[in-house]
Amino acid sequence: MLYSQVVSVLVMAASAFAAPSSDISKRAQTVYLAGDSTMARASGSQTGWGVYLPYSLSLTVVNKAIGGRSSRSFTREGRFDEIINAVQPNDIVVIEFGHNDGGSLSSSDNGRSVCGGTGSETCTTTYNGVTEIVHTFPWYLTEAGKAIIAKGAKVIMSSQTPNNPWETGSFLYGDGGRFVGYARDVAKALGSNAMYVDHGGYTANYFKGIGKAATDALFPQDHTHTSPAGADAVAKAFVKGLQCGGGGFLKGFVKNATESIPGTCL
Ligand SMILES: *[C@@H]1O[C@H](CO)[C@@H](O)[C@H](O)[C@H]1NC(C)=O
Repeated sequence: MLYSQVVSVLVMAASAFAAPSSDISKRAQTVYLAGDSTMARASGSQTGWGVYLPYSLSLTVVNKAIGGRSSRSFTREGRFDEIINAVQPNDIVVIEFGHNDGGSLSSSDNGRSVCGGTGSETCTTTYNGVTEIVHTFPWYLTEAGKAIIAKGAKVIMSSQTPNNPWETGSFLYGDGGRFVGYARDVAKALGSNAMYVDHGGYTANYFKGIGKAATDALFPQDHTHTSPAGADAVAKAFVKGLQCGGGGFLKGFVKNATESIPGTCL
């Protein structure tokens, strides 16, 4: 082969791989998921609901949830930054934390617990031998949300899933705990490029409807983590909440009509 032919073959090969930036920005919207084990890919017998969400949407779902994380550790480990760097205008990021955010910083810091409060309060701690300024749950969610919105993307703040609300023998849910209210309030404060889905409320309502025995069967391991069937039900509860609110940023991308999804609108 002549040198000029080799060069033109290489040029063709290179252009086949390098998509022009206009093509990249025209890609379909992507949905990113940020959360903990209750949303993450399967690990052992437990599965998170993010695994089942794609069945209900016509958009690509990138599940960045990871077990054991809180709003604080997801931030410290650069996991929000990774999503912020990846999002393009009109992408949608679903953020759901709470299961690992509680606990105390004063006795022994597990690297996950947040500082108490709802605003700019800070706590100083030492984790893994490193001094760390710890912020409040609303602060971590707000910072992530603002940065995502600054990239032109949208945020869905989703309230944490409940632990098995039948574990005491009778159904008990209440308001879902403080992290539920915080997620709602952060979404509201972020404005029109953010919305809230009361995932905790919709999931609890679904579990209430199917009763104790059927709910217990979805929690084979402990009161927090579900089986694959449980994760599917929890994903559907999210979609139900979304659709009952008109679909929000996912309007037109949900495959299921509101009435076809189990449960009732709250
Ligand atoms: C929506 O329909 C698909 C089948 O097209 C199904 O796999 C999925 O579980 C349904 N989602 C809900 C929320 O009912």
